[in-house]
Amino acid sequence: MKKSLFSLVFVLAGFVAVNSVQSASYDHEMEAKGVTFAWKVDGDTLHGKVSAKTKGWVAVGFNPSKKMKDANYIIGYVKDGKPEVADHFGDKSTGHSPDEKLGGTSDVTLVGGSEEGGMTTIEFTIPVDSGDKYDSALSADGDTVVLLAFGPDRDSLKPRHKNKITKTVNLSTGSVK
Ligand code: HEM
Repeated sequence: MKKSLFSLVFVLAGFVAVNSVQSASYDHEMEAKGVTFAWKVDGDTLHGKVSAKTKGWVAVGFNPSKKMKDANYIIGYVKDGKPEVADHFGDKSTGHSPDEKLGGTSDVTLVGGSEEGGMTTIEFTIPVDSGDKYDSALSADGDTVVLLAFGPDRDSLKPRHKNKITKTVNLSTGSVK
């Protein structure tokens, strides 16, 4: 009996340890139009987590010039339990393309993701300033325009958003306008 209790505690401790390694901790969180974005700026790296009620894509964009144009997009979905993420650029005011297709580089690192109860979550890191001309350099202080959106229940990056929103955020204090 004592032995099985010990084993249970041991297994639970292992479970907690594994999960805390997998999911990063974030300093700030915002929610708008059904999309939640959590982030932390740690030196040269932004750690981000975006989630919404969809079985399709979820995305965050930074610093458009007009509507969707010129923004840096991090967009992903979970297909058959496997998360995928991509680095895109707003080459139109109503669309985006992979940085690599435009001649730039993919600068997003997938951290993890899940699709549970119709909710999709993608976790990633990006450099604050990748140096790629298809990524806007982020400034931790001052205003950053943040776009949040999610698509319909399809594992494809093509269909347009079900919901989208533009906010102005201070990435270091977490204030949202
Ligand atoms: C997947 C392909 C996408 C397509 C085809 C698309 C298409 C469009 C179109 C046609 C509009 C203008 C009409 C409307 O308001 O619906 C628009 C606006 C907008 N989109 Fe997208 N979009 C896509 C992805 C995204 C992503 C990934 C984001 C953000 C993370 C986003 C954020 C926005 C925002 C914020 C607006 C409103 C801009 C404004 O009026 O200032 N879109 N999009």
